[in-house]
Amino acid sequence: MGFFGSNAAVRFRQHGIIPILSSSAPERYPEPQRRTVAHANILYRASIEACLQQYTPDAILHAAAFSAPLACEKEPDIAYSINVVGTQNVMALAADYGIPFVFTSTDLVFNGEKNVLRDGYYSEADEPDAHIVYGKTKIAAERSIQEQSFGRWIILRTALMFGRRVAWANGFPQFAVDLLKSGKPTTLFTDQFRTPAYIPDIAEVIVHLLRAQRFGEIYHCGGSERINRTDFVQRYCTVAGVDTSEIIACTMDDVPNYTTRVRDVSLNSEKLRHSLAQFSWQMTPYEKAFQEMLEGD
Ligand SMILES: NC(=O)c1ccc[n+]([C@@H]2O[C@H](COP(=O)([O-])OP(=O)(O)OC[C@H]3O[C@@H](n4cnc5c(N)ncnc54)[C@H](OP(=O)(O)O)[C@@H]3O)[C@@H](O)[C@H]2O)c1
Repeated sequence: MGFFGSNAAVRFRQHGIIPILSSSAPERYPEPQRRTVAHANILYRASIEACLQQYTPDAILHAAAFSAPLACEKEPDIAYSINVVGTQNVMALAADYGIPFVFTSTDLVFNGEKNVLRDGYYSEADEPDAHIVYGKTKIAAERSIQEQSFGRWIILRTALMFGRRVAWANGFPQFAVDLLKSGKPTTLFTDQFRTPAYIPDIAEVIVHLLRAQRFGEIYHCGGSERINRTDFVQRYCTVAGVDTSEIIACTMDDVPNYTTRVRDVSLNSEKLRHSLAQFSWQMTPYEKAFQEMLEGD
């Protein structure tokens, strides 16, 4: 029921799929959404199992996480419990019940030090080597999945995600846009590069991979361009008609004690493109995606 799940659910419905969104605390959500949220706390197998027995899903999309890199640095034990033990719990039950399992991993399994313009964007052949806690927990979770004898899993390493505003979750680029609209100075990095991915496109990928039964593989899922955060927010604001004069563009070195320093984790999504060639899948160009997002706001 986070930022990704809430956005992805819209695209799943367009495919005739009925998504069951879950939360460790459904009472936290506003009406009317609260009534449709299933309860499942991934820290407890009994809680997940009760949910599976109630809803008997055809597939599990495991997107629950302690997902904020800075919070993971501050609370590594919680990050490990939710991101590693939680994933092991969901995966074990998927295996017990024989349900296909998709795990949303991240480009931050890489440390970002590769010279991607010279040596190519990060592909599945690159060895994960995160320096930050969040990335390390995602690597450990991926390894747990790969070590299982149950083979019907897919690991999707997605880039920074963007999508429509979700009232109950922090989303990108909305956090920056809200700051700008409030007239507050908004500090954004110019030296952090990603290949941001539009959530409806990621949802589309998941539908295709599951239907084609492309199991037992890791796939990279990046967006249509490599871009830094400042330029991305500026381009969104141009489409949205938001004044960007209060953006303070800076580098990571300008922020003292910045702990989640990751320079460039641009993803190479060729394997995915090749695997989905029959569906002519491609990422929506950013400006087109921004228009769609604004129509939905
Ligand atoms: N956002 C990005 O840019 C990005 C990029 C790459 C990969 N990812 C990955 O994509 C996935 C989704 O990210 P997101 O941005 O949607 O994150 P999010 O908005 O923080 O959502 C994560 C969800 O996990 C749930 N959760 C946390 N602890 C739980 C527990 N013990 N039991 C059950 N649910 C729990 C939370 O719901 P409750 O608090 O209601 O339980 C929350 O809604 C994550 O795996 C993340 O690592 C995200």
